[in-house]
Amino acid sequence: HPSNLQMEENSGLRAANCRAKGGAPGFKVAILGAAGGIGQPLAMLMKINPLVSVLHLYDVVNSPGVTADISHMDTGAVVRGFLGQPQLESALTGMDLVIIPAGVPRKPGMTRDDLFKINAGIVKTLCEGVAKCCPNAIVNLISNPVNSTVPIAAEVFKKSGTYDPKRLLGVTTLDVVRANTFVAEVLGLDPREVDVPVVGGHSGVTILPLLSQVKPPCTLTKEESEYLTNRIQNGGTEVVEAKAGAGSATLSMAYAAVKFADACLRGLRGDAGVVECAFVASQVTELPFFASKVRLGRTGAEEIYQLGPLNEYERVGLEKAKTELAGSIQKGISFIWK
Ligand code: NAD
Ligand code: LMR
Repeated sequence: HPSNLQMEENSGLRAANCRAKGGAPGFKVAILGAAGGIGQPLAMLMKINPLVSVLHLYDVVNSPGVTADISHMDTGAVVRGFLGQPQLESALTGMDLVIIPAGVPRKPGMTRDDLFKINAGIVKTLCEGVAKCCPNAIVNLISNPVNSTVPIAAEVFKKSGTYDPKRLLGVTTLDVVRANTFVAEVLGLDPREVDVPVVGGHSGVTILPLLSQVKPPCTLTKEESEYLTNRIQNGGTEVVEAKAGAGSATLSMAYAAVKFADACLRGLRGDAGVVECAFVASQVTELPFFASKVRLGRTGAEEIYQLGPLNEYERVGLEKAKTELAGSIQKGISFIWK
């Protein structure tokens, strides 16, 4: 008699083969850090996503439990779990999209940069795996400090000769999600109708909402603009303090990560006009990386949009953002070449 485990494996394989034969459209997606506060709801939401045919859940702890749980959902994606460094390569082989929320979160009183010491090494190791096993995959990097972890990933890929700047995207969608929510609140609108570009980076003053470009067009007072900019820049800290030591944003982040991953997959599928903000290699400013609107296509971030007209308040904000960003980017690059 085959063991239960064998039967499960066989039926999983049958399901995967059957879907493959049917030519079901779908992409292979891995989540690294899948058992974490972001990873678990992100895995659940990706299991529901009709663009996903195979979902690999990797973590250094608890991924078997999360995988067993998620795999019982009667949606299309076939789910497989991977535990610990020896299984990283199997988790990554053949993937089209790799989403990385692995690493420690903040506690009250910490900055995102305080996470560098631990998360820099984690991101380095995981990106070495990507370079080796799925060098053509799109990477969505969530681990903080994003302003430094994206440069780290770029250097790892350069070292291994696999770097394509179009395929490396730092996830800043949560800043846009917050901006849409807070601006809608002030204007008395439904947040689904509001679109706020947020540029720069993902930390404090580097988070620069362009309130002069809000859609639908609106007029905000100086006080409203200052209140909103401040609230958007400190949205992460607001959650860290409310959670009082139990971590940072996980549920809104999982929502934002899926919004962004879904946009990347629609781009890969060839949909036209898919545009999101992301922290990418950029020539929009003199800095090597910058967050701005990008058009997502079959090869990743295919077009990076200029910032457009800024008002005086935003121009001052941009200078502050660039000063801090320059240091964070350099810190990431130096980590790899030290
Ligand atoms: P968490 O501690 O709940 O989960 C992190 C997970 O990563 C854990 O399950 C842990 O086992 C796993 N992990 C640790 N080392 C690993 C490794 N080497 N390989 C694979 N997995 C590993 O933390 P969280 O709340 O999910 O946050 C994760 C990260 O995301 C933090 O760095 C946080 O600051 C960041 N974050 C970013 C944004 C953003 O907007 N970009 C938003 C929220 C949180
Ligand atoms: C966020 O913006 O919520 C994340 O970057 C987590 C944090 O540390 O604030």
